Amino acid sequence: MSQEYAKLVYNGKEVELPLVRGTMGEVALDISHLRKETGMVTIDPSFMNTASCYSKITFIDGEKGILCYRGIPIEKLVENTRFIETAYLLLHGKLPNVEQSDKFSNLLTENSLLHEDMRHFFDRFPRGSHPMSIMGTMQNAFSTFYSNVDSLSLKEAIDISAARIMSTFRTMAAFAYKRSIGEPVVYPRHDLPFCANFLNMMFDSPVRPYEINPNVVKILNSLLILHADHEQNCSTTAVRTVGSAQVNLYSTISAGIAALSGPLHGGANQAVIEMLQRIVRDGGNVKKYIDRAKDKNSSFRLMGFGHRVYKTYDPRARLIKKQCDDFLKQMSINDPLLDVAMQLEETALNDNYFIERNLYPNVDFYSGIIYRAMGIPENMFTVMFALARLPGWIAHWKEMIGSKTKITRPRQIYIGKTPKQN
Ligand code: SDX
Repeated sequence: MSQEYAKLVYNGKEVELPLVRGTMGEVALDISHLRKETGMVTIDPSFMNTASCYSKITFIDGEKGILCYRGIPIEKLVENTRFIETAYLLLHGKLPNVEQSDKFSNLLTENSLLHEDMRHFFDRFPRGSHPMSIMGTMQNAFSTFYSNVDSLSLKEAIDISAARIMSTFRTMAAFAYKRSIGEPVVYPRHDLPFCANFLNMMFDSPVRPYEINPNVVKILNSLLILHADHEQNCSTTAVRTVGSAQVNLYSTISAGIAALSGPLHGGANQAVIEMLQRIVRDGGNVKKYIDRAKDKNSSFRLMGFGHRVYKTYDPRARLIKKQCDDFLKQMSINDPLLDVAMQLEETALNDNYFIERNLYPNVDFYSGIIYRAMGIPENMFTVMFALARLPGWIAHWKEMIGSKTKITRPRQIYIGKTPKQN
């Protein structure tokens, strides 16, 4: 197909800007030579209309509610793979065969121990520290214990580091939880697969052996798959930006953890549960909170609702809502928060304020109810999101350094004082 252009007419000059088309039909204006040819830059605060890179990892269609990892719809991945196979797909571009899956699983097991000196770091955090703050600090400290992994590292160094980050983050998360409840930490076991190992580290105890429930393992695999990547979201953009300065991978990931912890991003899953608990405490008055969310004078937002890209039901939320209902029935749990969540959804989806703004439940709306049913405390919900997103972040970092990306350095439009005004 011949090159397509868009014409820009400015200052009596006509400039042709090339168009680029994605493999799923998106169209973009290539402005990489705009400043050189016109002296102008574009401005797009929060990058609402700006593609920051070319990527082969994840595709989202926000209008149709489609999400694919490496071209495979998430519905198929949830149905047919475990989390580590989807992680392998994101990291390597294809699903692993049996040999590759076993090799990756062994790499995760071999790299699951935290350096013993790092175990004592937990003693120095104030009691009650939020696990996301602990995890970000520990992740950054990691780079002092392990050799740097940066754009000059060999391929296998990156594979080992990806496995080490995914596996030790899982160990650190369980250690942080055990420390927070004053129980002895439980070490990873060589004979348990990824998700079962995590649950065992979280809930096993010398006086109360944990019985691994296959239903819990299955739904945890599914939740981690659904959270594993989401193209250029805030935290992935942070990872790509920090990584573009050739910061080592361990510290680059700690930047992603910091970004994800925000309540507008990954922190929303905890904020949803706090919101639902508040509504239950307030007598379950759903309409009062829907009205508050619509009130411009109120800072209250319906957490777990709305999305920058999805202008229809988040396909992840659709799957999580179904799994949530089924799982609670399987576990014979009757959680009033689920009833309130469903009433909120029903009311909002029939209210013009939400309809006009294309506000639907997103990935965070129901996920916390499942984590609660597993026995995971609310302040660990965003840690679960980060655990899932690690392969996505690392895949984007690999793609960014592999494409010889230049350091990220956007321009600005200055509107401050001029020298004449001083
Ligand atoms: C994640 O980007 C990703 O892919 C992220 C993520 C991933 O996998 O990485 O999907 C994970 O972060 C999901 C989002 C979790 N956050 C929340 O649930 C927090 C609540 N949602 C909102 O704060 C909001 O919807 C955002 C942050 C998610 C999106 O915000 P935008 O795109 O900047 O939209 P906006 O704030 O400009 O809102 C547009 C309009 C506004 O009203 P008007 O000014 O046009 O009258 O919609 C309103 C907003 O006030 N609005 C809401 C609302 N979300 C948007 N009103 C009430 N409740 C809400 N939740």
